[in-house]
Amino acid sequence: MLLNMTDLLKVANEHSFAVPAFNIGTGMILNGVIETCEKLKAPVILAIHPWELEFNGDAFLQMVLERAHRTKLPVCIHLDHSEWGPITRAIRAGFTSVMIDASSKSFEDNIALTKQVVEYAHAHGVVVEAELGTLAGIEDEVVVESGKEAYTRPEEVEEFVTKTGCDSLAIAIGTSHGAYKFTAAQCTRNADGILVPPPLRFDVLEECMKRLPNFPIVLHGSSSVPQEFVKMVNQYGGNMPDAVGIPEEQLRKAAELAVCKINIDSDIRLAMTGNIRKYFAEHPDHFDPRQYLKPARQAVKDMVAHKIQNVLGSNGKA
Ligand code: 13P
Repeated sequence: MLLNMTDLLKVANEHSFAVPAFNIGTGMILNGVIETCEKLKAPVILAIHPWELEFNGDAFLQMVLERAHRTKLPVCIHLDHSEWGPITRAIRAGFTSVMIDASSKSFEDNIALTKQVVEYAHAHGVVVEAELGTLAGIEDEVVVESGKEAYTRPEEVEEFVTKTGCDSLAIAIGTSHGAYKFTAAQCTRNADGILVPPPLRFDVLEECMKRLPNFPIVLHGSSSVPQEFVKMVNQYGGNMPDAVGIPEEQLRKAAELAVCKINIDSDIRLAMTGNIRKYFAEHPDHFDPRQYLKPARQAVKDMVAHKIQNVLGSNGKA
């Protein structure tokens, strides 16, 4: 059941949970996400980045649309981090939600571009997520180094939302894209030598909530980079030194506040890769994808179930 994202986020806001936006990078991830959400009766946002569309080709989008129409779950198909050209194509292709990411531009240019997208999208019945503040990591081909990110300025959010008419707002409170979210210099280390990141800026979130009561807030870059999978990758031939993410208890707290959509991509990829590496190390003579992708497929489902039940609290909310 393909839904408008505003309806999904409104329910999440009222019931203090967050809807996960899982990036759908392959057909296996699509099936793992939908099957797990159906089992847990959890609404879900299928987020597709323009790079994922390019990688998978047009037939993939048809498959995602067909799967979203077929399930009884409340589902939204969302174009992640994009710009004018891909957004207009995505709307024509059947996406129900798009994100315009003009956060690297000046405040005025961000408003102008977002407003233009909102007018086009709303005329086609599609909702728009916008972004204020910049996250570290790679967004929309813009690379922001750790330490050069900019937190959202709460004093700008009302003007931004009023002038653009956007339907939800991604803010920067210390999350970041990818598996290397922080430099060692930004963190402390625990007794095991693992990096401990600086806490999320809940003061910024709470100030935004005061200025935008009941407005849906979005967090990007919300993978936790579970250390068990970093260890698995490193144990079986990988090299991911100092990979670290956002502690899950902080995301849980954000989900109970006004954060209604939490974006997760890296954790699924990490769990798949750890399991594939382990499989190859333990079965060096195997070469059949049906063999080595089996544990990866299970890893997708386990990760999705864990996030829904233990972090976002969206199970049973469909
Ligand atoms: P992660 O890299 O933390 O999973 O974030 C994904 C994301 O925000 C996609 O828009």
